[in-house]
Amino acid sequence: MISYRHSAEAVKPDQLRGFFEGWPNRPPASRHLEILNGSDYVVLALEGDRVVGFITAISDGLLSAYIPLLEVLPSYRQQGIGSELVRQMLETLRGMYMVDLVCDPELEGFYARFGMKPYTAMIIRNVESPR
Ligand SMILES: CC(C)(COP(=O)(O)OP(=O)(O)OC[C@H]1O[C@@H](n2cnc3c(N)ncnc32)[C@H](O)[C@@H]1OP(=O)(O)O)[C@@H](O)C(=O)NCCC(=O)NCCS
Repeated sequence: MISYRHSAEAVKPDQLRGFFEGWPNRPPASRHLEILNGSDYVVLALEGDRVVGFITAISDGLLSAYIPLLEVLPSYRQQGIGSELVRQMLETLRGMYMVDLVCDPELEGFYARFGMKPYTAMIIRNVESPR
């Protein structure tokens, strides 16, 4: 059974194995935990003690929020977990003037289900030497 939690408090790096699939510079689990704890909002999906999915948001708490990360472990995909993470995060951010994220064109349909619209983004990706 999958449970959802809105805090990474008490989560240990060992519970965060297998994420950042396909990234050239994959953050280790300890870094992942720092990222979760440094985010303004987080929703975790857990099966027992294991984190199997997560979503983060960075926000000023009033007007704007940005969703940088969403991932479900490969063997847990296609079961509605990603959708539930997005649903719970958007509920948390409800009422903000802007809620933005950047995604590949293939995922536009996925996010459109939640009322999100395609737009233009400008980005920097420091692939070689991220902090
Ligand atoms: C995107 C992601 C979080 C979805 O998680 P999930 O638990 O499988 O999501 P759900 O089961 O709720 O929904 C799956 C739906 O998303 C669609 N989807 C997921 N990834 C997709 C992709 N790369 N291209 C097109 N559609 C995709 C599936 O087709 C599926 O649609 P369906 O219900 O019509 O079959 C997951 O595929 C993932 O972690 N991908 C790698 C990281 C990533 O791309 N994150 C998003 C960054 S913007």
